[in-house]
Amino acid sequence: MDVRKAVIPVAGLGTRFLPATKAIPKEMLTIVDRPTIQYIVEEVVASGIEQIIFVTSEGKSAIENHFDYNFQLDHVLKEKNKVLLGKELDMISNLIDIVSVRQKKPLGLGHAIWTARHIVGNEPFMVCLGDDLVSSNVPCAWQMLELFRDVGESIVAVQRVPADQTFQYGIVEGEANDRERTYKVKRMVEKPAPGTTGSDLAIIGRYILMPEIFEILSKTTPGHGGEIQLTDALLALSNRREMYAYEFEGTRFDAGDKFGYLQAIVSYALRHDELGDAFMGYLKEIVKTL
Ligand code: UTP
Repeated sequence: MDVRKAVIPVAGLGTRFLPATKAIPKEMLTIVDRPTIQYIVEEVVASGIEQIIFVTSEGKSAIENHFDYNFQLDHVLKEKNKVLLGKELDMISNLIDIVSVRQKKPLGLGHAIWTARHIVGNEPFMVCLGDDLVSSNVPCAWQMLELFRDVGESIVAVQRVPADQTFQYGIVEGEANDRERTYKVKRMVEKPAPGTTGSDLAIIGRYILMPEIFEILSKTTPGHGGEIQLTDALLALSNRREMYAYEFEGTRFDAGDKFGYLQAIVSYALRHDELGDAFMGYLKEIVKTL
């Protein structure tokens, strides 16, 4: 069965980025010239997904508005003959079919995904975290969908992290597979205490999940931090049926974290068609003054 839908949870409080995120969703913070969430939506669209389900919460309507048609703005741009700008806004509001569901309380990522169960229905689906950016030649979601066509089972995207950072991630212990960059999941642990895992494969914010995850999530009790953890449910799912970890090609940025956000801005600015060269020149200049 093909993967047609992508759930993008954006209901978190963004406490790591306060006070910037007091009144603005972290997913709307700008990376060069567009909000983080637009890069993620564009990745999903470029990968052939047909529908996006935003899991939102109070104070996140700017995200829905960003992808909606803005009559007043359209009217003003036409009056001022700003054709190109008008076309760009048109493009954003016509990217893909989007629906939203509300997560009433921030009970964790697992709970956020469970909130989308009625719209996803009984089919495999993609999950992309609203603050996780992946910069790559082939969209990360596309790479995973290609593997899914081959294995037909759940897939988590992973990246290698230094051993002293594993405690910050969900870690997969897996067995190398015939397929390149692919591991069969043996065990998973959320934020393992230093020295308790031999694996450096950290789960990042891209998943393809079988719909059984919803039934598992409905029975998952709050774990680490009092939240319903997706990793706990993934572990249960991997005990029932095969699951794969895929070391994607590309660079991931945690744009919900201040340092990750800065890294993303520099990286995307350097590769920007209009600004890249000038920005590189500027960086070289300021490095000289250090
Ligand atoms: P994070 O843990 O990065 O989000 O969740 P957060 O809770 O907003 O962050 P901090 O730690 O307080 O800064 C990853 C993704 O899952 C969503 C977030 O919006 C983010 O896109 N999320 C998280 C939910 O939708 N609901 C939740 O209850 C928790």
